[in-house]
Amino acid sequence: MSDKQQSIIGAGVPRIDGPDKLSGRANYAADNLPPNLAYGYGVFSTIASGKVSQLSVDEARKMPGVVDIFHHSHFPTLYHTPSSFAQGNKVEETRLPFEDERVYYEGQFVALVIADTFENARAAARRVKVTYSTDQAVANLDQGVEANGTQAGSGNHDRGDAASAFDSAAATIDVTYRTPVETHNPMEMHASTAWWDDEHLTIFDASQGVVVARNALSKIFAMPPERITVHAPYIGSGFGSKLWTWPHAIATAAVSRELGRPVQLVVPRQQMFTTTGHRPETRQRLRLATDGNGKLVSLRHEAINTTSYTDQYVETCGSVTKSLYRCPNLTVSHETTQVNRGTPTSMRAPGAAPGLFALESAIDEMADAAGVDPVQFRLDNYAERDESQDLDFSSNHIVEATNRAAEKFGWADRNPEIGSMRKGREIVGYGMAACNWEALKRPCDARVSIRADGTAFASCATQDIGTGTYTIVAQAVSDVTGIPIDRITVKLGDSSYPDGPVSGGSWATATTLPAIAGAARKALDEIKRYATGSNGVFAGASGDDLEVADGGLRSADGKLVSFADILEAGRYGSADGEAHTEAADSKYSYRSFGAHFVEVRWDPGISHLRVARVVSAIDVGRVINETTARNQVEGAVVMGIGMGLFEATEYDQRNARPVNNDYAEYVVPVHADQPEIDVILLDHPDLAFNEYGARGIGEIGVTGLAAAIANAVHHATGKRIRELPITLDKLM
Ligand code: MOS
Repeated sequence: MSDKQQSIIGAGVPRIDGPDKLSGRANYAADNLPPNLAYGYGVFSTIASGKVSQLSVDEARKMPGVVDIFHHSHFPTLYHTPSSFAQGNKVEETRLPFEDERVYYEGQFVALVIADTFENARAAARRVKVTYSTDQAVANLDQGVEANGTQAGSGNHDRGDAASAFDSAAATIDVTYRTPVETHNPMEMHASTAWWDDEHLTIFDASQGVVVARNALSKIFAMPPERITVHAPYIGSGFGSKLWTWPHAIATAAVSRELGRPVQLVVPRQQMFTTTGHRPETRQRLRLATDGNGKLVSLRHEAINTTSYTDQYVETCGSVTKSLYRCPNLTVSHETTQVNRGTPTSMRAPGAAPGLFALESAIDEMADAAGVDPVQFRLDNYAERDESQDLDFSSNHIVEATNRAAEKFGWADRNPEIGSMRKGREIVGYGMAACNWEALKRPCDARVSIRADGTAFASCATQDIGTGTYTIVAQAVSDVTGIPIDRITVKLGDSSYPDGPVSGGSWATATTLPAIAGAARKALDEIKRYATGSNGVFAGASGDDLEVADGGLRSADGKLVSFADILEAGRYGSADGEAHTEAADSKYSYRSFGAHFVEVRWDPGISHLRVARVVSAIDVGRVINETTARNQVEGAVVMGIGMGLFEATEYDQRNARPVNNDYAEYVVPVHADQPEIDVILLDHPDLAFNEYGARGIGEIGVTGLAAAIANAVHHATGKRIRELPITLDKLM
């Protein structure tokens, strides 16, 4: 392999889908307007618990353009999916749309109006009269525990004897943290456009997983997956809310079949706060203890999260706690409690994001109690191997990450005394936290063709959700074949391509690239067979003697023939390869590591808190694309600032109705809230994990960030804020 080819991996190749997105050519789910399209608009429950007692559609039916109005007593028959992650047919809300008259959360679909235009559908939806018999809603976690108790969750772990180690320790803390519901707010709203031809369903869906969506729909419509094609060529992000199929997509496909015409349904922004998932509310009790040398001897992390009445979603807050620190006596437990909210789902770094807010705040509190600098405390206690699985880490550079970030940040200049550092009228706070995320790699198929015109074509039924997957797939094809990026076409987001992974869990890169590279190598093998065959341009030579060079093959004696000429000579249209790669093995514990250092400024005069500076050092194995990787961490840091300072879906405690359910009142960081973000990518290949040594980078950046902010706020103000977000009322 030439140096030039090697440099393609790791290079900051600009996004190859950028021009399509910037020019408006990129085709999102609701951009599909097939002929005779009908538009849906939902009628959503205005109560959170109870039953639809009467549903009157007479007036609505007379509105202009109305085609039909669906509801629980007028809806096509659907079938349940086992909703299995392992089988790849998971949905998060397992109750089928319009299954019965029950209402489990505010903003649940209770009717669906179909009309000739979007505006007519919306106008008619407002004339559907629904009356309810209303039960007292369970509106928050505390009410849930009181009304329903808790249900055992999953992902628990126990080693040693945490209770007795705690009782005999030198220093202890016992603290409880809370995180609110956060709602995914991708720019692109959830949307589906569906039509049927000869009993074949085509659906353009805003989906992070076209294969799983196809398989789930196959169960729900009781028809073979070959008769369903799910398209998601472009997604305006999802952050986890588009991982699994939600009721609107199922309903769109069902009514399209019933009406015999294409139907499009967009979920209004307000119902994206109810019917397409959210990060659930958590309450987490942390009990930590150290010996006289500041070494952790006991750690208990007990979490409860809210879930819906229809499904149990477990937010695995202790997932990282099990293995980040060396500790012989440790308990992690997860429980859920039912509330009248829609079903929660994964939101960027599920479990770890709220979990590390609690753990990494508690570690800071523990360091304080033990009288040790928080950086030193972590360095003294980081695990050297994964004690929860009794496995070595494949590659772990958290010490280097912590030291490099500390140095770049200037931690040595920190005066540990509370409120002692000032700049003008602002008090400066320095805080830090570790970050961590599991590295996963799923099974994957891919296909690569080298074509007679000298171009290459790669396809895989994974998606690019805005993160750069199109681009890194092209980089991998270029890496193997030597064909330049601008002559490589990448097709993703179509369930008829070879089965690829959902774009989630930060596993798309680690999963997809080995399959792509494998397929590209097979295409090369095929072109070598053509070249060395009896009519080939290198007839009689051995394939092993031919090397890839400048868009062709070169023999040992220096003869260079382009791929195009090789194919032309044998009259072949293309050389093709397909590959299948397996999930990661379990020889090691595969995880990513890092550290965030945060400077906050607190102006007590005007009660203004801001994040002024972030330095993050991230160890995710090899970096495939310097630009997109950096973007992922920067974006995650911004999301972490949202989590730390702003984001919370507020529910009316009387009726469980989300009240700040729009872009105006659900506060996310804007440009004025952006600090200087300095991302250090360690770039140590993890070759035990996959051939590229890349572990994935999407989620780790959001973990720990809110804790680093909270720790900095404590340094500035002396206040330990244990409930997110850190709003001004908590500081005054
Ligand atoms: Mo991510 S929460 O796995 O889309």
